[in-house]
Amino acid sequence: MRSLPGVALVFALVTALGVVAGCSTNAVAKPADEEIFPIGSKNLAPNTIVDIPMSASPLEIDKMTFFPEGLSVAVGDVPAEVITQPIAFPHSKHAKDMGMDCQYCHSGARKGQHAGVPPTQVCMGCHNVVASDGRPELEKLKAFWADGKGDPIPWVKVHDLPDFVYFNHKRHVLGGVQCQECHGQVQEMGVDQRVASLKMGWCLDCHAQHALDDSYGTQQELRRSELKDCWTCHK
Ligand code: HEC
Ligand code: HEC
Ligand code: HEC
Ligand code: HEC
Ligand code: HEC
Repeated sequence: MRSLPGVALVFALVTALGVVAGCSTNAVAKPADEEIFPIGSKNLAPNTIVDIPMSASPLEIDKMTFFPEGLSVAVGDVPAEVITQPIAFPHSKHAKDMGMDCQYCHSGARKGQHAGVPPTQVCMGCHNVVASDGRPELEKLKAFWADGKGDPIPWVKVHDLPDFVYFNHKRHVLGGVQCQECHGQVQEMGVDQRVASLKMGWCLDCHAQHALDDSYGTQQELRRSELKDCWTCHK
């Protein structure tokens, strides 16, 4: 778990930059942002105050996301690490071949903050009657069930945001954002892998463009600005 890397300090700085925007610019912005702003957040202030650093390579600029207001933030890369699990659970067999709904197993997704991973009991509802002979992954599943006496299978986390970020599944799922928009074509995957960087620029990019529910009516633009507000994700 990572801790809060001075988010409060950045809030203070961004506010301060706003206040002095009219008068002296470089003197305030440059020295501070080089040292204090963590990578990925140093271009948060409007471009009219802090330009893209001269040293930025075209590759870095390509990985930033730009907003009409002049905000730019790093989008990041998808990690190259390949994740393995205690049991090679194939999403494709269940969610595609058998056509199971994602929320049969991840029932928290429309109800709260966490989508959740199902307890072994959910698996055994079927696997008690699916033959496991000669299938090592299913033998492992049965062994966990028999030995563990209810202990959860130690699944490795694929997605893990830092603690200082607030994320909620319910608002996204009820707001019409599909699982696949954030998690990729999971129903085609063997062991689940990440397809998104989970960096701030990734969140903001979608918040700037995604269709919003019609029920917002004339409040859509207001909602749009709320989705870019620091306090929406850092509270
Ligand atoms: C039969 C139950 C089952 C179904 C159906 C299912 N999943 Fe999963 N899912 C799991 C299990 C078990 C894990 C933990 C192992 C892993 O990460 O592969 C998991 C992991 C995940 C993860 C990674 C969680 C993490 O650690 O960050 C995502 C994302 C995910 N599922 C999305 C989906 C989506 C999208 C669908 C529908 C297309 C779906 N799942 C259908 C059981 C299921
Ligand atoms: C709705 C019933 C159902 C549920 C719930 C279910 N499975 Fe399955 N699963 C199956 C069936 C049926 C197969 C076999 C498909 C086949 O014959 O190829 C299977 C296949 C598998 C396989 C692949 C076996 C192999 O060697 O090909 C694994 C691993 C597995 N399941 C693990 C799990 C885990 C872990 C869970 C709980 C998170 C789970 N299943 C939940 C029905 C289910
Ligand atoms: C807007 C993007 C987005 C959408 C849409 C989304 N997820 Fe997630 N999901 C995430 C993020 C980000 C995390 C990491 C959360 C954390 O670390 O706190 C995550 C984590 C998970 C996990 C790991 C366990 C957990 O709850 O943290 C599972 C399982 C999962 N998602 C399944 C789903 C399923 C199934 C759907 C569709 C019903 C879905 N997600 C829709 C972004 C999304
Ligand atoms: C694929 C598009 C997409 C991505 C990626 C995405 N979001 Fe969202 N998010 C939305 C939409 C659309 C809404 C508005 C839903 C509504 O109001 O109905 C929303 C709403 C929110 C809200 C408001 C919830 C509330 O209670 O008002 C928060 C917080 C949030 N997102 C955090 C995040 C974070 C953090 C990330 C990145 C880790 C992220 N989102 C990535 C589309 C996305
Ligand atoms: C839509 C959600 C969202 C909004 C809005 C948002 N952030 Fe973030 N922020 C994130 C996420 C996700 C991360 C974690 C990214 C990572 O792991 O590097 C993050 C990380 C950060 C960090 C740490 C950077 C690092 O590299 O460790 C700072 C500082 C920060 N945000 C400040 C802000 C400020 C200031 C604002 C308002 C201008 C803001 N954020 C608005 C989602 C958001």
